[in-house]
Amino acid sequence: MPQCILILDFGAQYTQLIARRVREAHVFCEVVPFCVSVEEIQRRKPVGLILSGGPASVTDSDAPRVDPMLYELGLPVLGICYGMQLTAHTLGGVVERAKDREYGRVKVSFDTSVPLCTGMKPQSIMWMSHTYHVTQAPEGFSSIASSDNCAFCAMANPDKKIYAVQFHPEVTHSEEGSLLLQNFLYRICGCAGDWTMDAVIELAVSSIRSQVGENGRVMLGLSGGVDSSVAAALISRAIGSRLTCVYVDHGFMRKGETDSVREVFTKQFPVNLIVCDAKKRFLDQIRGVSDPETKRKRIGAEFVSCFADEARKLHSVTFLAQGTIYPDVIESGCVKGSAVIKSHHNVGGLPDDVSQRFTGGVIEPLRMLFKDEVRRVGEALGLPHDMVWRQPFPGPGLAIRIMGEVTEEKLFTVRESDAILREEIAASGLDREVNQFFTVLTNTRTVGVMGDERTHEFVLAIRAVTTDDFMTVDWARLPYDLLSRISARIVNEVPHVNRIVYDVTTKPPATVEWE
Ligand code: XMP
Repeated sequence: MPQCILILDFGAQYTQLIARRVREAHVFCEVVPFCVSVEEIQRRKPVGLILSGGPASVTDSDAPRVDPMLYELGLPVLGICYGMQLTAHTLGGVVERAKDREYGRVKVSFDTSVPLCTGMKPQSIMWMSHTYHVTQAPEGFSSIASSDNCAFCAMANPDKKIYAVQFHPEVTHSEEGSLLLQNFLYRICGCAGDWTMDAVIELAVSSIRSQVGENGRVMLGLSGGVDSSVAAALISRAIGSRLTCVYVDHGFMRKGETDSVREVFTKQFPVNLIVCDAKKRFLDQIRGVSDPETKRKRIGAEFVSCFADEARKLHSVTFLAQGTIYPDVIESGCVKGSAVIKSHHNVGGLPDDVSQRFTGGVIEPLRMLFKDEVRRVGEALGLPHDMVWRQPFPGPGLAIRIMGEVTEEKLFTVRESDAILREEIAASGLDREVNQFFTVLTNTRTVGVMGDERTHEFVLAIRAVTTDDFMTVDWARLPYDLLSRISARIVNEVPHVNRIVYDVTTKPPATVEWE
């Protein structure tokens, strides 16, 4: 097993970010609830602990606490924001409400002679967000960083390897935040940097083999998305054709995607691939339907039904694999102590006779990985670039990018226009910068003129957005000449379109998708 840092979560919005930064520094870490017992910590044998920030005030009687024994385990500790205040409070220091709340970029002076600050500039900008601060350090601690408003921006007891910072080294606005975290990991915890993608693959392959055994068989629903594709490639590497992948071709995929899935999972990662050609079934289900919610529901139900039909035929398969990733695990609440695990919702979505068939259990090879790590594993395994860097794509696919009724003719129009858009944005080199882009076939016809002919064809919209999390998005400022090229090509090359518009709405108030 790789070395592990445990991150005790006090409910900060940045906890996942801390975990990602640690992993980026090639050190494995896990997020655990703050109330984890000292015995459990010892059982997991971490090489260091990080106490996250959190919204509470340590001076409140019901604020989250830790067992003081945590500081006596001989393990290096780094407290961040609330984690610093808690450390001070628990070990006998004083925490008080600050006169001036510090928020945003703050110039901090560092004592660069301590291991935590080795190699850092004597002064740099760090990101602060706090109302309370330490005004007196506990015995054995001294200040190692200060700002104009705060004498204890960071404190340390180097003999006990306990460090704490008031600012957030994990956010990119903190100039030397990564260096500080790396100092903690490498100079203080003595990490070896053994969390590499090769190690992740090796570990995943051996744990799949031991879970499935010599003869076990596994089924996986392959959607063509990043997570299920990487999961399939990993399981294929572990057990080869004892993996059966079911790919439901609902006919709403983008140009070339189904062929690419077939190519990769028959040649590069040979699995027992079942392509369920359900194009007609799906179109029949939504024929004449123009209400977006009804469309989505019917497609969802048909999907489960197709998948279940295939699963019923696979008598010898007892394991179900899923592409659950670490943010799903954290957000589903199992890290926060609740019993709800989102990954099992999919199993729950299957009819009873099917879900009960998977007596072996659920295989989740990506359960400990963040999305960027999943992509890096995909790259390390040699999956095609387009598959690894695929943008989010809704389950109902192109069907919800056609306003109103879906027909084969309209699917052709939206699929071809989407392919041109993708080609042109890739050629302009903007495909990583713009987080998601696609075309939408509206239900509106306008008059145009082509050659000497009057036309009465559809308006097609282009949507391109930039975002970190898809919760809020901005519309991408695509260069005019690029838009102009895309517009000309689509109108010339794609049937039934005579006008192109560009969607310049943010989310909120709009959503990314139109339906
Ligand atoms: P909205 O339209 O809600 O989309 O702003 C936010 C992000 O989610 C994607 N999306 C979906 N993804 N199943 C999915 O897996 C869906 O039904 C679905 N609907 C929207 C959307 O493409 C965007 O990235």
